[in-house]
Amino acid sequence: MRTSLVRRRMVATATAAFLGLGVALGSGLASPASAADTAALSGIILGVGANESQRIVTWYSSADNAQQVQVAPTAEIANGEFPATAVTFAATGAANIATSGGFNRHATVTGLKEHTAYSYRVGSEGNWSPAYAFKTQDFEGDYDFLFYGDPQIGSSGNVAKDQAGWQDTMNVSLAANPDAELLVSGGDQVETANTESQWDAFLAPDQLRQTPWVATIGNHDVGGKAYEQHLYTPNTDRSNAYYSNGNAAGAQSGGDYWFIYKDTLFIDLNSNSYTTTSGGGGDAAHVAYVTDVVKQHGGEAKWTVLVYHHSIYSAAAHAKDSDNKVRRTDFPTAFSNLGVDLVLQGHDHVYTRSYEIKNGVKANSDEKPGQDEVFAGPGGVIYVTANSASGSKYYDITTPDASGTNGPDPLNPGSYWYNSVQNQEHVRSYVKVQVRNDKLVIQNLRSGTCAAPNAAVEVGNVGCTNTADGQPVGSVVDKVTVHPYHADGQDIQVNVPTAAPGEFGWTIDGNNGLVDLGTAAEHNGDYFAATGKINPIAVSDSRRSLAPWSISASVGDFKDASKTFSGAYLGWSPYVLTAGAGAQASGAVPSAYDDHGQGLSVSRGLAWANQGHARGTAKLGADLDLKIPGEVDKGSYRATLTITALSS
Ligand SMILES: [Fe+2]
Repeated sequence: MRTSLVRRRMVATATAAFLGLGVALGSGLASPASAADTAALSGIILGVGANESQRIVTWYSSADNAQQVQVAPTAEIANGEFPATAVTFAATGAANIATSGGFNRHATVTGLKEHTAYSYRVGSEGNWSPAYAFKTQDFEGDYDFLFYGDPQIGSSGNVAKDQAGWQDTMNVSLAANPDAELLVSGGDQVETANTESQWDAFLAPDQLRQTPWVATIGNHDVGGKAYEQHLYTPNTDRSNAYYSNGNAAGAQSGGDYWFIYKDTLFIDLNSNSYTTTSGGGGDAAHVAYVTDVVKQHGGEAKWTVLVYHHSIYSAAAHAKDSDNKVRRTDFPTAFSNLGVDLVLQGHDHVYTRSYEIKNGVKANSDEKPGQDEVFAGPGGVIYVTANSASGSKYYDITTPDASGTNGPDPLNPGSYWYNSVQNQEHVRSYVKVQVRNDKLVIQNLRSGTCAAPNAAVEVGNVGCTNTADGQPVGSVVDKVTVHPYHADGQDIQVNVPTAAPGEFGWTIDGNNGLVDLGTAAEHNGDYFAATGKINPIAVSDSRRSLAPWSISASVGDFKDASKTFSGAYLGWSPYVLTAGAGAQASGAVPSAYDDHGQGLSVSRGLAWANQGHARGTAKLGADLDLKIPGEVDKGSYRATLTITALSS
C-alpha cells in the first residue's frame, strides 16, 4: 500500500482585492438594476482623503436612491467595462439644503495602492456616470501640489467668462504639472453661496475629477450649505465653534479639517469664523484646533501647511480690513510656536509672499525683498496669498499706511512691511509648491496674459499691466526656496526604498518520491498497520505583511483497481523539522480505526503561523499512521494526499 504526495497550487483566502479591504466592502457587489433608477448624476468631484491612500468623491443626484462609487484599476477595464473585481464604496448623503433641490452624495475610497492608475464612476448598477480616471503616485517622498486663489465664479458678472478663465488655468497648470498630486483651494469657489449655475461652472473642468481638490471655504461660500454639499472633506470637525454663526446645523457652511498627505500635515480652517460675537468660537477655537491637531499628528509629518481664506498678510483691497487685523493679532504667534512652515491664503486677489514671520514680526531683519532663498529659523513662517486663478476679479495693490500693522517695508517703502514680494498684473496665476526632502520651493506662475480668457479685463472691470513679452503663460512671477529650521540638533535622515513585497510559498522538499508505507503488518487479526513519513514540505514566507499562513492536507480513498478503502484510516502526527517562518505543528489526527473519526479524509492542519510571525523558511514533516480493518482485501493500494496552503 502506498500513498503519493501531489503538489497543488496554493490557494489564497482573501483574494487580495486590489483595494485591500475591498472584500469586506463587497467587491463586485452591486445593487440590482432598477428600472426606476434614472437619477441624474452631476457635479462629480474628486476630493482629497484622510491620507494618500484615500479619495473622497462628492456629487449631486436627482433621486434619493442607494448609490456608490465604483473603482477599478484602469488596466483591468476592457472596452469600457468595469471588471467583476471592481470595488464599490457605499455613498451617504441627504437632501440638499441649498436651493438646488436634489440630493448630495459622497463616498470615501480607501485602500488605494501607490503607483496605480484607477478609473471610477458613481451611481448604481444600470445607471452609472461616465468613468473618470485618477492615478496614485509614490506614497513617500517628494511631490508637488498646486494652490489656486479665489476662482469666485460669477464675480466678474459673467459666469461663462469666469468659467473660461478657470478652465484655462486648470488646463495650463496641469499641462505644465501633470504629476501635481493635490489641487489646493484658497477659498471662494463661487461668487454666490447657493447659486448652482456658478457651482456648475466651477465644477466643469475635468481636472477636478482627476486630481484631488482640497477645499477651502471663503466668505463667498459660507452663506449657504452648497459648499458642504459639493465638497465633502476628511477629518472634518463640524462643531459649532468652527461656524461663524455658532450653528453647524444652520444655513451656513463651515468646519475645520486636517489630513496628512505623504509627509505634510495640512490643516484647513474656516476663517469666516474669527470672532465670538456672532456665536462661533472665533480665532481662539481655530488656534485650539490647530494646536490640538499638531499635537496629535504633527509627529507623523515633516511639514505643516495651514490653509484658510482670509489673508492676514496681503497687499490689496483687504490688507487693512479690520477683521484681518484681528486675525493678524490672533494667529501668528501660535503658528510660530506650533512650527507651521507655510500658510496658504486667498481673499485679496493679489499675489504676495511674506518674509519669514515670527510671532507677528519679521523674523530676520536682513531678509531682502524678493530674496529667493530663505532659512526659516526658529518660529519662522511663510505666508502666501494667491491671486485669482480664474481672472474673475483682481484687486489692486494698496499703499502701506502709518498704522503699526500695515506700515511700509523700510527696505521697500512701497510695499507692506511683511511682504517680500507683491504682484498684481491683472492676469491669472497659480502657486506651485514643490515639497522636497529638506526644502519647500514655492513659485507663483502665470496661467494667462491680458488676453482672453481674462474676465475682469474683458468686461472692463480693470485694465491689464502684464507685458506679453517676458511675462507669457508659464512664466515665473516669484520663486523662493524655503529651508526648514532644525533647531540646535542635527537631524539625520535616510530614505529606505520599497522592500520587495516578498512572497509566501511552499514546495515538497527533495524529489517527491512515492511515500511507500511498505507492507502493512497484521495485528491479532483485527487490523493491518503501516507507518511512514510524508516527504518534508518546505515553507518560505518573506512577505512584509507577516500575515498568517497554514498548510493542511487531506487524502482520498485508497484504491487498487476496483478495490478501495477509506482514507479516513490514515492518521498523522505533524512536527516541525526545521524551525522558521513562525511555523507551529498542528495536532495529531488518529486513524479512524482508533476513534471512528474521519482521519485524514477531511482537511487537517499540518502547520501554521500567526500574524506577525518571523520571516524565513521552515521544513515540516509528519509521521503517518495507517490502520486498516482486517476485512480489507489484499491489494496494492494507492491514494493521493492533497496539500493546500492558505494565507491572506
Ligand atoms: Fe474672499
